[in-house]
Amino acid sequence: MTQTTLSLKEAQQQAQGLREQINDHNYRYYVLDDPIIADASYDRLMQQLKSIEADFPELITPESPTQRVGAAPLKVFGQIRHELPMLSLDNAFNEDDLNDFDRRVRERLGTDSAVEYACEPKLDGIAVSLLYEKGALMRGATRGDGTTGEDITLNVRTIATIPLKLLGEGWPDRLEVRGEIFMPKEGFERLNKRAKARDEKVFVNPRNAAAGSLRQLDSKITAKRPLDIYCYSAGVVEGGELPDRHADILERFKTWGLRVNPELRVVKGAAACAEYFSRMSEKREALPYEIDGIVYKVNRLALQEQLGFVARAPRWAVAHKFPAREEMTLLKDVEFQVGRTGAITPVARLEPVFVGGVTVSNATLHNMDEVARLGLKIGDTVVIHRAGDVIPKVVRAIPDRRPADARDIELPERCPVCHSDVERDEDEAAARCTGGLYCSAQRKEAIKHFASRKAMDIDGLGDKLVDQFVEKGLVNTVADLYKLGAEPIASLERMGKKSATNLVNALKASQKTTLARFIYGLGIREVGEATAQSLVAHYRDLEAIKSATVEQLQEVDDVGPVVAAHIETFFKQEHNLEVMDELLKVGVHWDEDTGQEEGVDQPLQGEVWVLTGTLHTMTRDEGKAVLQKVGAKVTGSVSAKTTALLAGEKAGSKLTKAQNLGVRVVTEDEFIVLMQQWGV
Ligand code: IVH
Repeated sequence: MTQTTLSLKEAQQQAQGLREQINDHNYRYYVLDDPIIADASYDRLMQQLKSIEADFPELITPESPTQRVGAAPLKVFGQIRHELPMLSLDNAFNEDDLNDFDRRVRERLGTDSAVEYACEPKLDGIAVSLLYEKGALMRGATRGDGTTGEDITLNVRTIATIPLKLLGEGWPDRLEVRGEIFMPKEGFERLNKRAKARDEKVFVNPRNAAAGSLRQLDSKITAKRPLDIYCYSAGVVEGGELPDRHADILERFKTWGLRVNPELRVVKGAAACAEYFSRMSEKREALPYEIDGIVYKVNRLALQEQLGFVARAPRWAVAHKFPAREEMTLLKDVEFQVGRTGAITPVARLEPVFVGGVTVSNATLHNMDEVARLGLKIGDTVVIHRAGDVIPKVVRAIPDRRPADARDIELPERCPVCHSDVERDEDEAAARCTGGLYCSAQRKEAIKHFASRKAMDIDGLGDKLVDQFVEKGLVNTVADLYKLGAEPIASLERMGKKSATNLVNALKASQKTTLARFIYGLGIREVGEATAQSLVAHYRDLEAIKSATVEQLQEVDDVGPVVAAHIETFFKQEHNLEVMDELLKVGVHWDEDTGQEEGVDQPLQGEVWVLTGTLHTMTRDEGKAVLQKVGAKVTGSVSAKTTALLAGEKAGSKLTKAQNLGVRVVTEDEFIVLMQQWGV
């Protein structure tokens, strides 16, 4: 759209109007988190403004919202001396440290009463200083060494959430805003995924990605990076005043269009700070950005002044750090574990180390490819990462610390448990024990899988108990479980009469099951819960599944040639057929013809659905599982038989085809509403 018919004056008026609207929407979107227009409408306003500015370049101002896309590359960064030093914070590593901090504050202030603290997340990003003069962003600088930083003005100007012009009124003539620039987790994942796909270097964490993005000599690159900011204090203030409490200053910042962390809370006393800390620890994983602790700040500025500084850190604030997620330790040995399907997994035995809030002494190394990728040797110093409830991982070795007697890690030629041969397929990362159910490790794992919650759900049959059953020769196959009496169970370690009776009852209760649970419980390679459900939905009974050929099996959703071959192989083995017969003989049964969970209505019985595009609130597999649960058949392509198409973002040819055929199209939002109606 060109505006050549406009006079300069009209163009100026229109540009002005558009800028105001766009700035208002930016404010609502970025600061209030409350947008009132769709992204597409916003894009249109932006497009109109760009088009006017293209026709009348003389109207472009540095504050125009169009000017965030990046300027010409910089040769080197200029240096900026901070007018007031940018301080760092002392750390507290536990509640005692926090209480000591609070005690020192009260002693210095000469008070016994609880001090008011502002509590806020400590963001894991890059500290910056933004200088506003008469409301216009004049300069952006990194913290540097606290005294001198780098001039990153052009780069910070590209960050959409940093206002080029302050909104509202009442800002001091000169105002230095300080805050943390960070990369949200989602943007970080996206950036790294793209880098990986292009075989480019990936960033190790969001903090590094933010730092790397901000220190680009070419601000056009910065402009493309998903950076964001939370402002957390004021530096220089001239020609105006700010409120006399920290939290009120940040409230005022918001009215000027500056982003402030919404988790900020004002509390009284150290106990309330500790409470905030534990609440945020729980919330940490769910936050869309990385934090590495909590900062407590004395809220009243008059008291902050009274407290002053020691060296480079204020006495009025402290950073209470979360336990580190990465620690170094020694790789003492590597042992090999045998899984249910015989896969042999190298497991790192570590010098115990406290990381991510727990002591870790083992970590899986997945397979020999991973060992090779990490370039590990026994005796190495390694970095362990543990976040949230995720299993600890070895992320890298430190080659400089390798001792002269470090040993290579070698895959054993024989199974460490049953001494059968170990084989390694060319195209598979896993090595396998060929012992099958002769191998007691595989037997144990098969029984644990059979008993697990998503399979037969045998309450009270824990791993330790299964190990004892197998070691004592009480149980050889899963069918033997149902032949156990209370007495032999009661004689085992840590078992009594009562727990033995409970287990026998639980075994009895588990006999009534569903065909899908039964199939899943058999532990056929690569047949997970969803595939088991697809098999049942397709064949409806066990005999039909047992006798299906590899070709027929591939008609089932989800089942490709590899899985089909695993299924066929499983049902060809005499031993497996015997165990299945035994299971039925000892009382395992299910309702014929449904194969579905009891108690779930099947409103979509008889319907055929197809999924396409990207879903945001679930994976396609999850969407598919939901549909199958409520009775729908899910297929891979749209035809006249299709009842409905669940279309996520960027849906392509399937969507067009559905529209041409007049097939009902369901969006993800509509699907979420439907799921509520179906009660899933
Ligand atoms: S206040 C004198 N608040 O932590 C007060 N800092 O070790 C100094 N940081 O360089 C800063 N989140 O990069 C403050 N909510 C927050 C913060 C925060 C992260 C960083 C900042 C600073 C470092 C201090």
